[in-house]
Amino acid sequence: MNRRDFMSTAAISTAALAVTSQTAQAAPPRFENVVFDAKRPGHWKDVEALHVPIVAIKEGKLIIRTPHPMSEAHYIVSHSVVLKGGEFLGRTTFTWKDQPISEHALPAGYKGIIIVTSTCNLHDFWVKEERV
Ligand SMILES: [Fe+2]
Repeated sequence: MNRRDFMSTAAISTAALAVTSQTAQAAPPRFENVVFDAKRPGHWKDVEALHVPIVAIKEGKLIIRTPHPMSEAHYIVSHSVVLKGGEFLGRTTFTWKDQPISEHALPAGYKGIIIVTSTCNLHDFWVKEERV
């Protein structure tokens, strides 16, 4: 290989590496369009404001609310809460006649991640991550 061919090959390899690197960074996460959140609403991008659970913590109690209308045809089915290490804290189910609000007592002095989910019967599974 002469110097000119070498330089050409090196330039092409560098460009290919840059494209590959950008492609890898843009690759969808494993659960794209399976699990949704505010940053990754996927094919439900126009309705995320109604489905991402809103979390408040008051006096050791986790209060979850999903700002979603409730009708017999379309409603929030459940909330669930998982703590650090995958510890399951609880789940609340709803009928269409309920308000999608749930309360869960945190372990005394709990510090760490809180993963909250909200499931819609039409718009799938939404996740919100908090930290205390
Ligand atoms: Fe929905």
